[in-house]
Amino acid sequence: MNPEVRRAAEILRAGGLVAFPTETVYGLGADASSAAAVARMYAAKGRPEGHPVIVHFADAESAFEWAREVPEAARQLAARFWPGPLTLILKRSAKAKDFVTGGQDSVGLRVPSHPVAQELLREFGGGVAAPSANLFGNVSPTAAAHVREDLAKRVDLVLEGGSSEVGIESTILDLSGGEPMLLRPGVISKFQLEQALHAKVSAKSSAFPRHPGGLERHYAPKTPALLVPPHALDAEIAKRGARVAVLAFSRPDERVDYWIRMPREPQAYAQRLYAALRELDGAGCETILIETPPETAEWTAVQDRLTRAAAG
Ligand code: TXA
Ligand code: MG
Repeated sequence: MNPEVRRAAEILRAGGLVAFPTETVYGLGADASSAAAVARMYAAKGRPEGHPVIVHFADAESAFEWAREVPEAARQLAARFWPGPLTLILKRSAKAKDFVTGGQDSVGLRVPSHPVAQELLREFGGGVAAPSANLFGNVSPTAAAHVREDLAKRVDLVLEGGSSEVGIESTILDLSGGEPMLLRPGVISKFQLEQALHAKVSAKSSAFPRHPGGLERHYAPKTPALLVPPHALDAEIAKRGARVAVLAFSRPDERVDYWIRMPREPQAYAQRLYAALRELDGAGCETILIETPPETAEWTAVQDRLTRAAAG
């Protein structure tokens, strides 16, 4: 047992805050059955209260104790995708109190696969409430250094776990209502969920966000970001000159000082996205230009995060 992980579990038991790596992004963890610990977590993040938070477990069996009904669909998806980057929204049991569900009758459950997260959740034993370990509204952290940049002394311990393999937040599927509904796209696609379920999955209409991931401007750098189609990139650079930082598929342009070239494969792109946005945000430019990725299904999750980064 990693002694840091043992210390982390003790901190959680004492009502403290531990940032820990997951395969998607780093989480800011608190004991999900402690109102005081969860309140501290909201305060550290600067997140408005009343927002629901995902509860993390070492395995499906302990996760499902927090649901009062576990539909067959949830069991199938858990068997297929847990541990892994999928969050299931189910009707809550008495264990899921209002301070983790935001007063809703449902709870978000997730079993992450990162070995350090697994070790921590096993050692702690209970559910760990964890939003992404960034300040509210900022880009999610995919490295321990990002967590320290944002939260520094507001957290009792940051567990190191390298750079997150997936790089964007988990897919969220709501199974608490009639039909399965995708609330947040992620690396596990709608198509994969439909294949596993042999059923249709509907996508949430973005008109009624009932969770902060549904707010328009979220996952956003501080520098205004603009999505630019490939054919318009050159003209946009010509117009704005050296005052821009660019995130693109193509080779760096001489006129631009800060240019990050991204992979043409969606999962590799997602893995690097948030670190790239943080880096470009630090470049001190007026605008971040982001070359629009292809409008195909495999880019849905990345497209979702880019649209939010550029909103507002
Ligand atoms: O990959 C992830 O999911 C990361 C890692 C740390 O696990 N966590 C994460 O948490 O992204 P957060 O809080 O930044 O986003 C969780 C989203 C929020 O939009 C929240 O409102 C939604 O999940 N959520 C949680 N419980 C919910 C519920 N009962 N009903 C609807 N949405 C819920
Ligand atoms: Mg977040």
